[in-house]
Formats: sequence, structure tokens, C-alpha cells
Amino acid sequence: MRKNLFLFIALFSLLTFSCGQKAADSNKDLKMIVSGAEWFDTDSNRINAHGAGILYHDGIYYWYGEYKGDSTYWNPKVPSWECYRTEAGGVSCYSSKDLVNWKFEGVVLESNLTDTLSELHPSNVLERPKVLYNDKTKQFVMWLHVDSHDYAKAAAGVAVSDTPTGSFSYLGSMRPNDAMSRDMTLFKDDDGRAYHVYSSEENKTLYISLLTDDYLKPTGNFTRNFIDQSREAPAVFKRKGKYYILSSGCTAWDPNQAEVAVADSMMGAWTVKGNPCTGKDAEITFYGQSTHVFPVAGKEDAYIAMFDKWNKTDLINSRYIWLPVAFDENGDIEIAWNEQWNPDQVFK
Ligand code: GAL
Repeated sequence: MRKNLFLFIALFSLLTFSCGQKAADSNKDLKMIVSGAEWFDTDSNRINAHGAGILYHDGIYYWYGEYKGDSTYWNPKVPSWECYRTEAGGVSCYSSKDLVNWKFEGVVLESNLTDTLSELHPSNVLERPKVLYNDKTKQFVMWLHVDSHDYAKAAAGVAVSDTPTGSFSYLGSMRPNDAMSRDMTLFKDDDGRAYHVYSSEENKTLYISLLTDDYLKPTGNFTRNFIDQSREAPAVFKRKGKYYILSSGCTAWDPNQAEVAVADSMMGAWTVKGNPCTGKDAEITFYGQSTHVFPVAGKEDAYIAMFDKWNKTDLINSRYIWLPVAFDENGDIEIAWNEQWNPDQVFK
């Protein structure tokens, strides 16, 4: 009997332990955000949406990201840096009402498999898609980093759709304001104006460019920010009238230290506030790189910072890190490591 009891306890502990382990490895059975774990959609397929952005529209969150191909190779034509590449599979979209369960809505901007000259051909680069809704034109407008296989083109592409789940029609690309454009984001202000924020001048200087009312082109009104400071992976948000830019340094797929800057106006001037990350591996952004920060609907002071944890030799197997943003009385932010959390519990 004693032996049976011992066996039962041993088995129970083993089961509890292995369930605990499993929980940390994936989000599968958890109603949680599990940073750095494998994330699965509601069909139990691995979520493939990198360098992503979130659009909240009519009560639903839409997650748009890079749909990466399943093999990674080192581009031999780029000897100067670790240019790991994968086939550009277009832009995927997932939807959710609770930020935890994500339904695959498909590839909403398709790559062009047949025309080798197309910018959307998988041999090229399609990165960091962001989508805004334009209240005037009633269109969903996507901007993304469009590049040649060796990142020499340095352009921004635009696509539009009448619905959030596409399909998006590609309008073409440009070098906005006659300047290079690589890592990028979009930001829509409360007054409906939208801005394109992008790493320019060989990634050395961050441009903030006001878009036309239809969000399809630059107006020509832009500012050069963080000159020669090589900021990448910009993520912009606004709280209580203050604008924030979270960004990374410039070390290709390898992690580095994040930095946040604050301004009273989108066009600047920006005051650098240093690294907002705290906790284990905070000096290398928890092995992540910023991609987007968004407010949680209906909650006060609830913002989520999204990062990519790149796996440079197996890019499709890169992971996601999402963390709550905390504010102090001066409006300074802290992004603390939190491996496993539920937005409903953290944001009251
Ligand atoms: C990073 C950039 C990524 C990707 C990568 C390529 O710096 O943030 O989006 O372009 O370089 O190495």
C-alpha cells in the first residue's frame, strides 16, 4: 500500500512537472501569452507572422506579419554581413478577440510565385508589414519594407484592401522622400493623420514622414531623427499626449539593446530615455527586437510591446515576445520580463 502511494505521488509529480514544462514550451493549452515559446493558432498550426503589427478594428485584433518560407540560407551575394534569408511568402493575418487565441485568416498579401521580376517574388525581401484603417477612404492600407535579395533596393511598398482580411492589392514601391527605406512602422494619430517611420540613409537615420490623407504616399513633410545613431525596428505609440518610439540598434538578426525616446510631437524633437527593459537579459532586449507597441482596447494605460526573437539560421522558427508596458508618474516606461502572463489579469 505504502509502495502504491509512493508510486502514485511519483507519477503525479512527474505529470505535473511535465505539464509545467510543456506550458513553458508553447502556448498550446494555455490561455496565456508565453514569451519566447512556440505559439500556435486555433488550428494548432505554428503562427507564422514575423516583424508584425496589430490593427484593432471593430472589436477584433488583426495580427499582420511576414509569412516566412521554411528554409533559411545564407545569401552568398552579400559577404559583408550575416545576410540570412528565407523565401518571402507574403503577409499573413491572424485575428483574435482576446489576444491569446489567434485564428489564421490566410496570406492576405500574396507573393508572386511566377514573375521573377515582381517585387513580391519570394526571392526578394518583404518585411515588417503594418496596416492602418483610413476612415476617409474606408480602406485598409498596408505599408511594408520591400527589398531586393541583397537589401540594396531599400524601398517601401504599399497595398490596399476593402476588408481587414484582404486580399490586399499591391500598388508598388517607392523610396519615400527620395531616401532609402528599410525597417519601418506606421502610426495613426488621434486626429487621423498617419506617419511612416523608417530607417534611412543606410539605416543610420530614422525618418518620420507625414502621409497624404489617403495614407498612400508621403506628403513631403518629414523629419530626420537620431541622426547617425543607427536605430532600427521602430515601434511608435502615444499615451496622454506624449509620443514614444521604441527601437533597436543595428546588428542584423542578432539582439542588441533597446532604446525609447519621447516627444511632444510626432515630428520631434525626440528625447532619448535609454533602455526601458528590465529583468533577465534586459541589456539585449530578452534576445528580442521591437516590432510594434499597441494599446489594449477598453483598458486604461494598457499597452503591449511586441518583439521578434529571431532564429537567424532557421528564420521561420523565430519566436514572439510580448510584454506589458508600465508607466511611472513622469510617463517613463518600463518593459519587464514576464515569461507567462494573461492580459485580462495584468490589465484591470
Ligand atoms: C534587422 C531588421 C530585420 C531584418 C534583418 C536582416 O536588423 O530589423 O527586419 O531586416 O535585419 O538581417
